[in-house]
Amino acid sequence: MTSIRERKVLKYFARCLYSGAGEIVYLGSGVAGTVYPFALGLSKNQQVLEKKSRIYAYDAFTTPKQKVAARGGQIYYQNIRESQKQDSYLHIFQKNCKTLIDYVNVCDGDITTLSWLHKPIEILHIDIAKKIKSMATHCQRIFA
Ligand SMILES: C[S@@+](CC[C@H](N)C(=O)[O-])C[C@H]1O[C@@H](n2cnc3c(N)ncnc32)[C@H](O)[C@@H]1O
Repeated sequence: MTSIRERKVLKYFARCLYSGAGEIVYLGSGVAGTVYPFALGLSKNQQVLEKKSRIYAYDAFTTPKQKVAARGGQIYYQNIRESQKQDSYLHIFQKNCKTLIDYVNVCDGDITTLSWLHKPIEILHIDIAKKIKSMATHCQRIFA
């Protein structure tokens, strides 16, 4: 899980450094713990006018394991039984993004089967299966 300091940095990137020349791509969005600060920063960015769906959030959004998301300094625990029953936790991701969901383009599915639109990418954040070499190769081939 990312620390409050890391989330502040992500918010700063989206608020102060992001120019809008390319998209923000987030690989491994989980339950929005770190997509949220990007979205919050983007919402406060004064130089980018077109903000709708600029953050591409990739994830399979499925796991039977308990998920924990940190947002705004508060820890949000997901109910394990409900997660297993529903299989997908996309609804939790959407709930955690709350009013900022309009800034997010949800890319739901196994990333090895998804592709990129070949628009310019300004910020690429990778937090996905970092120990699997083939995943790193795939991400590099598709997004770099
Ligand atoms: C370390 S977690 C990300 C945590 C998230 N950044 C956060 O702050 O809440 C890694 C994520 O990668 C996703 N993931 C792993 N392999 C994947 C794949 N092949 N396709 C799509 N998502 C995948 C998992 O579902 C998980 O949410």
